[in-house]
Amino acid sequence: MEFNGKPYRALLSIQEIPSGKALTVNDEQEGDLAVFHHNGRYYITSNICPHHHASVLAQGYVEDGVVICPLHHYEYSLESGACLTGGADIKVYEYHVENEILYIEDKPAIQPKWMSNF
Ligand code: FES
Repeated sequence: MEFNGKPYRALLSIQEIPSGKALTVNDEQEGDLAVFHHNGRYYITSNICPHHHASVLAQGYVEDGVVICPLHHYEYSLESGACLTGGADIKVYEYHVENEILYIEDKPAIQPKWMSNF
């Protein structure tokens, strides 16, 4: 589907992700994603914490638009993907909701430099 001239593809039903929850979604195209329902909106990020390349961010603690990695407590902005504690950033994706389906932008996300080795 297209929204605002950009391609999107279906990721999951929003009924799978109640407010205040996060899910790990294994996406064929992008790998492990974290999908957050936080403060009335959704956020889609890589689930991989760049610190030790662990697929854990959906299990992190979320507060005020920031996810805290459960392993060593690095903090990432859900909006921009910026690491707020001095490490590498995470990938973030645009989304669109229509008919209770959460769609993810269907184009390569901006990839942090550290991921180009994988
Ligand atoms: S693996 Fe996330 S902070 Fe260490």
